[in-house]
Amino acid sequence: MVKLAPSILAADFGRLAEEAALMARLGAEYLHFDVMDGHFVPNLTMGADIVKALRKRSGLVFDVHLMIADPEKYLRRFIDAGSDIITFHIETGADHAALIGDIKAAGRKAGVSLNPDIPVEKLLPVLASADLVLVMSVFAGFGGQKFIEDSLRKIKWLKDKREELGLSYEIEVDGGINAGTAASVIAAGADTIVAGSGIFGPPGPEGNIKTLREIISRAKI
Ligand code: DX5
Ligand code: ZN
Repeated sequence: MVKLAPSILAADFGRLAEEAALMARLGAEYLHFDVMDGHFVPNLTMGADIVKALRKRSGLVFDVHLMIADPEKYLRRFIDAGSDIITFHIETGADHAALIGDIKAAGRKAGVSLNPDIPVEKLLPVLASADLVLVMSVFAGFGGQKFIEDSLRKIKWLKDKREELGLSYEIEVDGGINAGTAASVIAAGADTIVAGSGIFGPPGPEGNIKTLREIISRAKI
């Protein structure tokens, strides 16, 4: 079954613990944290302290998306804060293999992500060691943007490659996913969908999650 990863970037920051609890009650599998540093992307959001604070209040799988220029520098903080999945961007100058090794050595899952303008083939060197690939279907930096259709081609490519190479990474898709775009993302091969405004926006999380679940179950028939 396709998993749901609500992005708390679109939640009410004044009530984060309650919003996390609501996501668990509504059956979400992951809680997606969008970490931005004002360098890798032109926006500032949250750091490891938010992950740590919510860790005490939520048993959801913490899916931490690092949109930061220097993931190596801050990795230990996100591990200690209780992240379950840590995803960094392939566009960073980091030693990708070493980062994946460090994340896995800490007993967490390692993800790699790429922006819409980065060819998916760039991921080839890390596909065998990554636990998860996060396909950005908008440019990293802000919630509420429009889904980029070309992402579907990348999702299909990753699904085919996984089969061809006998690998097992999870395919997660992030950006502009809502009731209008979810079906195509799932059909292309997504295992997990991230949604911010598509869950926290109108008419509200309860109705939105119900709709997304219906789309997920229809896709599986
Ligand atoms: C964008 C973030 C996304 C974003 C998704 O930089 O990585 O996770 O919060 O928001 P929506 O679902 O509103 O596009
Ligand atoms: Zn994200």
